[in-house]
Amino acid sequence: MRLKEFGKTGRKVSEVGMGTYYDPLWIMTAWGGWRRGATSKVEAIKAGLDAGITLVDTAEVYRSEPLVAKAMREKRRDEVFLATKAWPSHLRRDDLIRAFDRSLVRLGTSYVDLYQIHFPNRKVSIKETMAAMEKLVEDGKLRHVGVSNFSLEQIKEAQSALPKSELSSIQLDYSLVNRDVEGDVLPYCEKEKIALMAYYPLGHGKLPSDPRLDSFSSRYGKTRAQVALRWLADKASVFPIPRASKKTHVVENAGVDEWELSVQDMVDLNLRFR
Ligand SMILES: NC(=O)c1ccc[n+]([C@@H]2O[C@H](COP(=O)([O-])OP(=O)(O)OC[C@H]3O[C@@H](n4cnc5c(N)ncnc54)[C@H](OP(=O)(O)O)[C@@H]3O)[C@@H](O)[C@H]2O)c1
Repeated sequence: MRLKEFGKTGRKVSEVGMGTYYDPLWIMTAWGGWRRGATSKVEAIKAGLDAGITLVDTAEVYRSEPLVAKAMREKRRDEVFLATKAWPSHLRRDDLIRAFDRSLVRLGTSYVDLYQIHFPNRKVSIKETMAAMEKLVEDGKLRHVGVSNFSLEQIKEAQSALPKSELSSIQLDYSLVNRDVEGDVLPYCEKEKIALMAYYPLGHGKLPSDPRLDSFSSRYGKTRAQVALRWLADKASVFPIPRASKKTHVVENAGVDEWELSVQDMVDLNLRFR
């Protein structure tokens, strides 16, 4: 799997990652202790790691941290760039540190590579949360700080609230079917060297049945999902994180790195799906 530097972290990670959000029902039942299909989900994450995917995204709210821990067990810890997130109700200093420590236990690790604020919380100042993030970094438990679902203005506020660290990443909805980030956040990420983790990279499973996408797919002999992921991964600061819940899909998604879209086709895809 091709590697790309993740923001300004100095770490190279696979240009395509894995996401471990399943669905609201799964989360609800997992709260009750029933992790439906856990074995096959762990197998799917393992298959991705074996295929060279090193970027894995989870969150306390997804209830998938224990599955990620299981899948990682046979890997060296430093082979995986592990990202998790704090829920907005945990953004006060002490709450964030406690939430982080609980994630560490569920993930079975002594450090996390990237800790992200899942959504902003207008009732908690970004300064307070970022000070807690810097404490985690100082304590050696956290490597890098990220945010998710932040506007450009909030991203800038987060950056200025981190005097001792860098803001490494922003996670937002980005795919051929949702191009909103291209207006302001993506150009800013490119300028500032912030990694943009693209969630819903396959349109949340709803890539359009569009003859234009089909024509790219048949011309390259690749699936529609692979074309959609290749288009994202070709952008210097973008890391798509398609869901990893089915082994065959994960292996297919890892197959984005053995080929390239021509410059002309990148331009065509940019224009056609606008
Ligand atoms: N920060 C946030 O607020 C936020 C919000 C949402 C998601 N996320 C992150 O982004 C990740 C991805 O989001 P998502 O899972 O909702 O959307 P997605 O990856 O765009 O779409 C997932 C859907 O695509 C299917 N799929 C995966 N690979 C495929 C392939 N090769 N061919 C055809 N279908 C394929 C999946 O089916 P199978 O399950 O059967 O494989 C599932 O139905 C999440 O897991 C999570 O880590 C973050």
